[in-house]
Amino acid sequence: MSAAIDYPDTRIGGSETKGSQLDALNQWVLQVAQLTEPAAIHWCDGSDSEYAALLETMQADGSLLPLNTDTHPNSWLHRSDPDDVARVEHLTFVCTSDRDDAGPNNHWMAPAEAHAKIDALFAGCMRGRTMYVIPYCMGPIDSPLARCGVEITDSPYVVANMRIMTRMGAAALARIEREGAFVKGLHSIGELDPERRFIMHFPEELTIKSYGSGYGGNALLGKKCHALRIASYQARQEGWLAEHMLIVGIENPQGETHYIAAAFPSACGKTNLAMLIPPESYREAGWKVWTVGDDICWMRPGADGRLYAINPEAGFFGVAPGTSARSNPNALASIQRDTIFTNVATTADNQPWWEGLDERTPVKDWRGRDHDPAKGPAAHPNSRFTVSARQCPSYSPHAEDPQGVPISAIVFGGRRASLVPLVFEARDWTHGVLVGASMGSETTAAATGAVGVMRRDPMAMKPFCGYNFADYFAHWLSFDKPGANLPKIFHVNWFRKGDDGKFLWPGFGDNLRVLEWMIGRVKGEAEAVDTPIGALPRAADLNLENVSLSPEAREKLFGFDRDGWRAEFEGIAAYLGEFGGRMAPTLPAEQKRIATTLQ
Ligand code: GDP
Ligand code: PGA
Ligand code: MN
Ligand code: MN
Repeated sequence: MSAAIDYPDTRIGGSETKGSQLDALNQWVLQVAQLTEPAAIHWCDGSDSEYAALLETMQADGSLLPLNTDTHPNSWLHRSDPDDVARVEHLTFVCTSDRDDAGPNNHWMAPAEAHAKIDALFAGCMRGRTMYVIPYCMGPIDSPLARCGVEITDSPYVVANMRIMTRMGAAALARIEREGAFVKGLHSIGELDPERRFIMHFPEELTIKSYGSGYGGNALLGKKCHALRIASYQARQEGWLAEHMLIVGIENPQGETHYIAAAFPSACGKTNLAMLIPPESYREAGWKVWTVGDDICWMRPGADGRLYAINPEAGFFGVAPGTSARSNPNALASIQRDTIFTNVATTADNQPWWEGLDERTPVKDWRGRDHDPAKGPAAHPNSRFTVSARQCPSYSPHAEDPQGVPISAIVFGGRRASLVPLVFEARDWTHGVLVGASMGSETTAAATGAVGVMRRDPMAMKPFCGYNFADYFAHWLSFDKPGANLPKIFHVNWFRKGDDGKFLWPGFGDNLRVLEWMIGRVKGEAEAVDTPIGALPRAADLNLENVSLSPEAREKLFGFDRDGWRAEFEGIAAYLGEFGGRMAPTLPAEQKRIATTLQ
């Protein structure tokens, strides 16, 4: 463990850093220490001994509870404050100097006002606490696509999670020293008071300030705040894309691997698709699935015009409920050891448990109370596991390739109980961007607020785009240029329901049948029928061997409801209209073209 440097001696690297790239970092750490007044400062080196000491500290203060060491070695339960269990979109701000740069898709505050407001909360907030300085790298440490940041936090739980989710410590610090540039993130759990909570982003200053929440999406600043909100802003300036997408490799029996990137809103199936286990007949035939990433994708055009993608993260922060040996055996295998669980329930023998895991009955709920089904689910619906990606049996041998993996198809999708068929293919890039821009999905427990309400969530980036969506759509359109060799774009819906309210598509492993069709389309081998909304497979165009679908399921999964889509396209026109004159004419023109063919 690197010696903790006592406040006010904040310096890393000794006096020789004067004038070096680390000088700016040292200055900032000193400024933050003067504002927050911690009792001690600890520079994180990312070592095993440091991690062990952190776990010990948290076990001693009760913020981590050990789980059954026979079944779950080195695994821990963290129970959060009951009012701090999800992202808080209404308290999340993008603070650009010009309000229009943040766009109607973001809450906005003027930078000076935002700094003043949140700095007042930070003043003295770390008294008696240790301030941790976490240098981290998003992406493989030797990748030209990777970017570094430094998070300052007073939460050991955040440090432990950042160590799993990012490349944290000495190697990241060395890269910062070489490059100079890094994203500054300041975080404090504060009083965990929902009335004194803000997640502020200053993209023009490459700065994040987060106060009053310890929840992953609000507090692990490398993830949503840096790798999506700040990175999307940088990506536009630098000609790449930072997206809320999983990355998965599909290897066919001939040994060819196609990589697919898919954007689904939070709790809509990214982690599951990224770790998919093929149906038995596919496994026997030799199909394999390789996990590259489950939540975030950074991609940019390579010399051959194709998009190359990296996963900026090093771990998974996955939704626990619904994870089982049937739905996601790879996730389940990953979390048998060295895992931090947040807000799950426990069994009598102190194993972690959540709804959908198995038939056992838990004894303690996520708040540590005796479980009483009358009080709601035992595990919080947004309870999570944090685990290193390297523990996943399907982790791709190419997941850490510095140049990334080439993307053959981009997939958009959401939860749509009605109207939207199982899968369709966009006609071309412009149509595909419209399909992404007009995505809708029913809200989930990953953010506070009502669940199950249909809202527009373009490219699954509604909560995460660090700038005006009108500019974002234009940025997407700009990739279609001479020399580009872009992926095909598709839309899927695993969540179509029948009249009885049940899902019509079996989902999970069987989703490979849909991915196989997409790859067939990419290779020019699979059939489809043209409709105004894009190319739809007939049931016969998919391999549905061993899948039993009712006539209602076939009709709704593979059918095209012209009247329903006409109404949907009116909604899309209204949505695009919300961006006013900032919206380039291409997408509204594409909307109009399709709306006309729907008449
Ligand atoms: P993520 O938050 O986007 O990574 O979503 P997850 O993969 O963690 O899944 C969120 C929830 O959706 C879990 O309860 C899953 O069991 C469920 N889910 C995932 N894929 C499917 C699917 O193909 N069909 C159905 N019906 N549910 C799914
Ligand atoms: P998810 O990630 O997309 O896996 O749910 C966390 C989040 O988006 O809050
Ligand atoms: Mn996410
Ligand atoms: Mn996930």
